[in-house]
Amino acid sequence: MICYLKLGGSLITDKSSPQTPRLAVLARLAAEIAQASKSRPDLRLVLGHGSGSFGHIEATKYGTRAGVRTPAEWRGYAEVGAVAARLNRIVTDALLQAGVPVVTFQPSASILCNDGKIVEMVVEPILRAVEASIVHLVYGDVAFDRVRGGTIISTEDIFRFLARALRPARILLAGIEDGVYSDWPAGHTVIPAITSENAARYFQGIGESHAPDVTGGMAAKVSEMLGIAAEFPGLETLVFSGEVPGNIFSALTRPLSSFGTIITSHQSPV
Ligand code: IPE
Repeated sequence: MICYLKLGGSLITDKSSPQTPRLAVLARLAAEIAQASKSRPDLRLVLGHGSGSFGHIEATKYGTRAGVRTPAEWRGYAEVGAVAARLNRIVTDALLQAGVPVVTFQPSASILCNDGKIVEMVVEPILRAVEASIVHLVYGDVAFDRVRGGTIISTEDIFRFLARALRPARILLAGIEDGVYSDWPAGHTVIPAITSENAARYFQGIGESHAPDVTGGMAAKVSEMLGIAAEFPGLETLVFSGEVPGNIFSALTRPLSSFGTIITSHQSPV
């Protein structure tokens, strides 16, 4: 089974404090990933991680997502790329420490965007890594853009592009929330399933992130995942909390249904 798993920036960093990784959480997540790979030898993993208080704070300061033109903005582009890579080193080391055979690829080295959309990315190294049963790691990064000069790409953007070359059975998005809420910020009622049929009903309540988030928060994530679901019927996406010990292991090894929000193209028969 091919699974894409994102460790969200809110989960692996302290979003209220600049460039602060949550090292104990990272160690636990890495151990769960190692344990899942051991118990499911058929599991082929593409991992991704967000940027949290590394990239988002810098990217907000320079407005990098909207475009990069002036020397000061290019300096910002370089700084955002540097902090995103710094967090990537920390995540890679935590995974290696837990015994996960991981190789990391710097997304901005091969991605080209057109007005915020990825139009090119070298995918063969990723296919080779999966073939060799090693874990491939990507992350939200800066990228050159034909229209904007430069921009920011999220892990979800990369997953969507990659899904065309390497179709996953599941996309797992681990954050600090229990799922997608129907009443955020007033309450925490988790929507069990979102499909293209019922999505419109919820969109008002889903809302944006409270910490700096240049890639748009939960509403953007849901709409990106609905786009992927429409493109690949049968694909299941799970938005769930990685804070609960055992959730990552379970999402990688068991049928999805007991926690989080499942996003699919249409309602599956019950
Ligand atoms: C954001 O990537 C990338 C940068 C700001 C450099 P993501 O959108 O995947 O990250 P999180 O999960 O929101 O932190």
